[in-house]
Amino acid sequence: MKNFVSVHDVLTSSFGGVGEAIDALVQKALAYKASPFADKTLGTNKRIGCLFLNPSMRTRLSTQIAAQNLGMEAIIFNVGNEGWMLEFEEEAIMSGTTVEHVKDAAPIFGKYFDILAIRTFPSLKNREDDYSELYIKQFIKYAGIPVVSLESATLHPLQSLTDIITITESFKEERKPKIVLTWAPHVKPLPQCVANSFSQWVNAWGKADLVITHPEDYELSEEFTKGAAITHNQDEALKDADFVYVKNWSTFNDYGKIYESDPRWMLTNKKLDLSNNAKVMHCLPVRRNVELSDEVLDGSNSIVTLEASNRVWAAQAVLSEILRTC
Ligand code: CP
Repeated sequence: MKNFVSVHDVLTSSFGGVGEAIDALVQKALAYKASPFADKTLGTNKRIGCLFLNPSMRTRLSTQIAAQNLGMEAIIFNVGNEGWMLEFEEEAIMSGTTVEHVKDAAPIFGKYFDILAIRTFPSLKNREDDYSELYIKQFIKYAGIPVVSLESATLHPLQSLTDIITITESFKEERKPKIVLTWAPHVKPLPQCVANSFSQWVNAWGKADLVITHPEDYELSEEFTKGAAITHNQDEALKDADFVYVKNWSTFNDYGKIYESDPRWMLTNKKLDLSNNAKVMHCLPVRRNVELSDEVLDGSNSIVTLEASNRVWAAQAVLSEILRTC
């Protein structure tokens, strides 16, 4: 594996189809969960630089732990708060607020580190700009070392790999699980990254029936949802679900807006009764009693802590694949 910025990068690490490649990565992650230090010297004398242009708790800590389990040194740089403001546009006349061009900074990261990991959120102001993934592409272009997405403008692949690990670990029946991705209310416009990425990975995996439910006008990009069933009727979607993945996202078509905050979209135990005793997932952080009710989060169906704890094994599996090639 050279870079890890979307599900498409998984194919380079395995023979066979993308579903098999995802399963192989999931099994690798679960093997690390059973034996965290099995490859404790794989990353000896290697260093990962983790650049955060935006805040994080789980991604930051799990990536550090994963690197350390492989014997790597992890250096965290909160570029967004502590670094020079970076320019990403080619041929920019830098007379505004940006101080250093990625063309100058990224090659230096490429000399300091063996792997570069980056978190960068979308602006939610201009869809074309955000969906061009300019920031992560510029780092790939100029760093000269493998790049791992810690969440980009449109995708969150480490979260999605974690989610498939968690579903695999939690579902033991000999049939495809029914997974429902449901929109939830929120007080501010959030990126579409987690929902895009979850849809992209589950569709590529091909081992589940995916239903996406959201209010009208909250359609996600078809690039990621193609293959899933989509309905505006949440109750209908929840019927017989084995997993319910709860997430807010802002509008994609009229980009980055909140049209809807109807609290009836929040998942409750009564709604969960429609499901097949579904496990409830959320990437976290979550706004309690806005996105998800206390009763669901604190109830026995919630697997959000298991999910967050699996972030370590997802990151470790990916870093290990990259270390074997760099
Ligand atoms: N789920 C997730 O990415 O959490 P953080 O924003 O805390 O890293």
